[in-house]
Amino acid sequence: MVTGKSSTCDVYILAIESSCDDTSAAVIRNDTILSNVVAGQKVHEAFGGVVPELASRAHQQNMIPVVDVALKRAGVSKKQLSAVAFTRGPGLLGSLLVGTSFAKGFALALDIPLIEVNHLQAHVLALFIREEGRDRKTPGFPFLCLLVSGGNSQIILVKDHLHMEVIGQTIDDAAGEAFDKCAKVMDLPYPGGPFIDKLAREGDPGRFTFTKPLIKGLAYSFSGLKTNFLYFLRDRLEENPSFIEENKADLSASLQKTIVDILMQKLVKAAKQTRIREIAIAGGVSANSGLREALHKESGKRKWNIYIPEFEYTMDNAAMIAIAGYYKYLRGDFTSQQVVPFARTHL
Ligand code: KG4
Repeated sequence: MVTGKSSTCDVYILAIESSCDDTSAAVIRNDTILSNVVAGQKVHEAFGGVVPELASRAHQQNMIPVVDVALKRAGVSKKQLSAVAFTRGPGLLGSLLVGTSFAKGFALALDIPLIEVNHLQAHVLALFIREEGRDRKTPGFPFLCLLVSGGNSQIILVKDHLHMEVIGQTIDDAAGEAFDKCAKVMDLPYPGGPFIDKLAREGDPGRFTFTKPLIKGLAYSFSGLKTNFLYFLRDRLEENPSFIEENKADLSASLQKTIVDILMQKLVKAAKQTRIREIAIAGGVSANSGLREALHKESGKRKWNIYIPEFEYTMDNAAMIAIAGYYKYLRGDFTSQQVVPFARTHL
């Protein structure tokens, strides 16, 4: 693998991520990230969720300034770029169209290859991002990755950088959705996951008990928990209208513990079934302190080697698209100018 100081055979990739409500651009030299710029979109806050049409418009406004800053921070000129990588899907179609069109135009103008990246695969590959002057332990193949985000909850068997197999996934809501929807019921801002996490630190996780799904195999389900949480609060609020306000921390801690228990139970099962002890987590929910703690606890008990991406690379970001682009570049896996984005896809 090519790492370290710049040389003439270094690969420089500009990466674009626009699958949801973050406009992001990153520049990577081989597998070392040089810049990662993310512009969030405050416009959705008033709506308690992402409004697709507003997201695409904001991407259009943000894209050029974000790319400009990413190149400047990296100290890389357009002429030095070897390729442009972009998120082809899954995500919001309008949002993806903005990033895809920009990447196509940029690659065409510079006459360099275009590389499409699967957003889910990129979340997993965030584990391989290197930073200048920082040592990083990366997982050995094969490893298991629990990919948990706002749209996905999957256990992935990762055979190599670009070969991944989903061996378990949610049949309804994703873990991030469970966090966000329950947070909304408690009147917390969107996305609620980080707020629940923060409140949970002050609360008692054993105070309330919520439903856990009885579902076979390695599949997940979170819709029952969401309904249980909603009805539980509705009943308590009838007795005491201030119930949520008075119990926010304990509610958050108990809810977080339930979600983490559900996630960990299937991950342990998958590790036993596959006899794999290289275990990773990725995606937005991998930032959750309860999940990180539970993973550390299990690793001690089961002698797992665990891998958690840097906080900065857990949420949607272009650095993960850049590292995925790099591995595809090495294999000459390029995309034609006829490429169109896709809203839904598998790994
Ligand atoms: O990966 P991501 O940025 O976007 C998707 O591709 O979905 O994940 C966003 C999700 C949201 O549901 C958000 O609430 C959740 O990640 N999240 C968290 C935490 N930080 C982000 N959930 C629980 N605890 C956190 N600390």
